[in-house]
Amino acid sequence: MTDTTGPAAAPLTDGLADRLAAIGVALDAFAATGSDPVPRRAAWQAALGGPLPERGVGADAVLAELADVVVPNGTRLMEPGWWGYITNGPTTVPLVASVAAAVAAPQRYTLTAFNLLEEQSLEWLAELCGLEPHLRGVYSSGGSVANLVALGAARQHACEERGVDAGAEGLGGLRLVVYASDETHHTVQRAAGVLGIGRSSVRRVGTDAQLRMRPDLLDEAITADVAAGVVPMAVVGTAGTTNTGSIDDLRALGEVAHRYGAWFHVDGAYGLPGILDDRVAARYDGLELADSAIVDPHKWLGAPIGIGATFVRDRSLLHRAFTQEPAAYLETDGGDGDRAESSLDSMGTPYADLGVELSAQSRGVVVWSILRELGRAGVTARVRADDDHARRIADLARRHPRLELLLEPVLSICCFRYVPGPDHDADVVNAEILRRLHRGSAFIPSSTRVRGQYALRPCFINPRTTTQLVDAFVDAVVTLGDEIVAGG
Ligand SMILES: Cc1ncc(COP(=O)(O)O)c(C=O)c1O
Repeated sequence: MTDTTGPAAAPLTDGLADRLAAIGVALDAFAATGSDPVPRRAAWQAALGGPLPERGVGADAVLAELADVVVPNGTRLMEPGWWGYITNGPTTVPLVASVAAAVAAPQRYTLTAFNLLEEQSLEWLAELCGLEPHLRGVYSSGGSVANLVALGAARQHACEERGVDAGAEGLGGLRLVVYASDETHHTVQRAAGVLGIGRSSVRRVGTDAQLRMRPDLLDEAITADVAAGVVPMAVVGTAGTTNTGSIDDLRALGEVAHRYGAWFHVDGAYGLPGILDDRVAARYDGLELADSAIVDPHKWLGAPIGIGATFVRDRSLLHRAFTQEPAAYLETDGGDGDRAESSLDSMGTPYADLGVELSAQSRGVVVWSILRELGRAGVTARVRADDDHARRIADLARRHPRLELLLEPVLSICCFRYVPGPDHDADVVNAEILRRLHRGSAFIPSSTRVRGQYALRPCFINPRTTTQLVDAFVDAVVTLGDEIVAGG
């Protein structure tokens, strides 16, 4: 028999374990102490700047620079007091899983354990977030692309209903409209632009006192558009808005959408895991009406950045919307894996035709690792603890004479502010409080505006945060506000 094994493979990872251990020491130190690169900015800019090297310095020197100069000057996302925007430093297990994937399955294709976990983790994630079992998923780089992919399915659906294959032919002269609220994430507008619908074709429907899209205004807007010959393509409800964490009335919005034959999309990039907190689960009533939904494991689940998931009721719509058309160099067996004897006999589930990426890392193993580590109970405990932090600030703000709660928290975002008294502009004072917090404290919330008023806005999705830290943060806000008002 001919020997087909060929020469022994060179160790392509070339001492990876040792090198990872070395950089791991620097990363652990960084995660423990955090970073504030601003005071040292000139030094690291000088060390890292410069022209393209003519001759390389070699692996050891690069890795030393990585450990000594680059890592210590990273962002503050790993600090326990990081509560800015809706973004997070990863936890340990998914971080290790993503390194493992980068080595053992750099691509999600071919029939491997990683390809299997891609699908399995999507199923687990859907179940965790209370999605209907008929919704099937695909990963992408985050909420922006996940919304784009979902709206791609919506566009395909609306056009096919009118005899046009949008993925193949374009819009065929149809005028399509997407309905969102004042509070909907702006990536929906960009998705409409990319899909050829146009950013200006996203109607901004007004919100109620809790900043939820008003179904009556939605109904009015669709009625007017239909009368004008415009196609109501999709209604976008949000389960956990970016500014305040509000949850739209999903049932009411879904019913209006379906009454007009429009697709109902739920953006749960941040807030879908919030359904695990039984104190707010009822607010997700109507989620079963969703034709598509998204959730970002790189937000509340603590995955490394670069993982969003789109779920749609009919993945074949995604295929028709996004297929690349056959390519001679991409030989596949259709992806069912039945004939597979080695991993290369089958491409595994062919995700490339269900979204906008061909090459893509194995993300499923990362999500799988989180759900294996924590289980449903562990994720639920984290979500509840984060919601508790927001509720605690709300309580403290309600009770303190110089604090004001701007909106009752629903999930893990609390919008509040210092009240400086009539002689001072509250917006200006609170912006200065935020600046001083960022410059000189361990607390890093961000800000927003609630009905035009400037708000401090901590968003709790950081599992490193403690109740003591939350209390100390509120004290710091009051102390800084008092100082500023006193002229300090
Ligand atoms: C509700 C919502 N949708 C979409 C996005 C966009 O997600 P990403 O930053 O992962 O692209 C965000 C980001 O915060 C969000 O809050």
